[in-house]
Amino acid sequence: MSNIKNKKILLGITGGIAGYKSAELCRLLIKQQAEVRVCMTQSATEFISPLTLQALSTKPVHTDLFDHEAEAAMGHIELAKWADIIIIAPATANTIAKIAHGFADNLLTTIILASHAKLYIAPAMNQNMWQQPQTQQNIQQLASLNIKTLGPAHGIQACGDTGMGRMLEAREIIAELAKNTPQTLLTNTTILITAGPTQEALDPVRYLSNRSSGKMGYAIAKAALQMGAKVRLISGPVNLPEPIGVETIKIQSAQQLLTSCQQYAGDSDIFIATAAVADFRPIVQSQQKIKKQDDRDKLTIELTKNPDILATISHDFPHLFTLGFAAETEQLITSAKKKLKSKKLDMIAANQVGDNLGFEKNDNAIELIWHDGQISLPMMDKQNLAFKLLSLLAKHYRNCNAAY
Ligand code: C5P
Repeated sequence: MSNIKNKKILLGITGGIAGYKSAELCRLLIKQQAEVRVCMTQSATEFISPLTLQALSTKPVHTDLFDHEAEAAMGHIELAKWADIIIIAPATANTIAKIAHGFADNLLTTIILASHAKLYIAPAMNQNMWQQPQTQQNIQQLASLNIKTLGPAHGIQACGDTGMGRMLEAREIIAELAKNTPQTLLTNTTILITAGPTQEALDPVRYLSNRSSGKMGYAIAKAALQMGAKVRLISGPVNLPEPIGVETIKIQSAQQLLTSCQQYAGDSDIFIATAAVADFRPIVQSQQKIKKQDDRDKLTIELTKNPDILATISHDFPHLFTLGFAAETEQLITSAKKKLKSKKLDMIAANQVGDNLGFEKNDNAIELIWHDGQISLPMMDKQNLAFKLLSLLAKHYRNCNAAY
């Protein structure tokens, strides 16, 4: 499996005849299941049509720093933040000089300056231009900035010269990217996470819900992303910002949560259910606001059971590696072990709630239990806990998959 699967790669194309190889590069990156966006300089568009790259990447091609439509969809700052890797192929002597000296006079160089993504350049130019001391000094400057130069190769050039300056072939660039992209614990996995509470409507203005803040689920989503996974987060109503780089789907009720999970479970590898799903919902959801009615002192609301989303998904999608959460106020371990079996899970994280513990807090402690073992993760910040939890999960997930 490729190290660049699921990586968000921005392919920058500058104005050189080697631009024709960029189409192949784009195609091969997508074949490796990387997510690809393309940014072209104006002169690049003279060599290869943006339409070709748009067709190959299936996404609009970005060319203009001041394109208001593109800015509305994904502006230069978003693109800069979005990318894990930026590869400029071909990189002309002109663009290399601009990057080496921090210019930001077009969309591509502006993105580069605004981004923390790992940057690679694949130079392509006439052999004399390559050998000029200015270019060589710029290349050295890039190396000192931790920007990696791939190639160029020696050979016959488009202008008829023979020498150094040919852009590497697309498959050689892919091999270099893969070699330089470290495998992280969750590389090549797609993780589906549920988080937050559900709200079960009584009428258009009232609902039944719980105290879940969503902090644990959001922390897991952020940690999973940093550990190399592609992450989808299905979230109930919470007061937390959507984690950048995570596809976040907002729901309200348990039934909406189930529908959304069913939609995404098929092409996920791991399912983590941190959501505090309401166990019951009102049988009748009044279309109008329920009136106080002065002649009655009591109001009885009949509830019906909600689906158990974790158990349903784990049963209907047996390929998934599943981690559930058991928030308990008593008999923590015994109840968690029961749920591990009854819901057919691979792992369960048991955490004590109530008495000022668990929900709404920034810290948490859990007992992580699987079929033939368990480990205590002591009280710590939920973000740290998320990393520890996922490291253990990744180990079990890999062992489990190695068995097949
Ligand atoms: O059975 P209990 O609610 O204690 O189980 C908790 C686990 O099951 C959590 O992982 C929670 O996200 C999940 N759950 C669910 N659907 C429900 C109830 C709980 O997915 N209706």
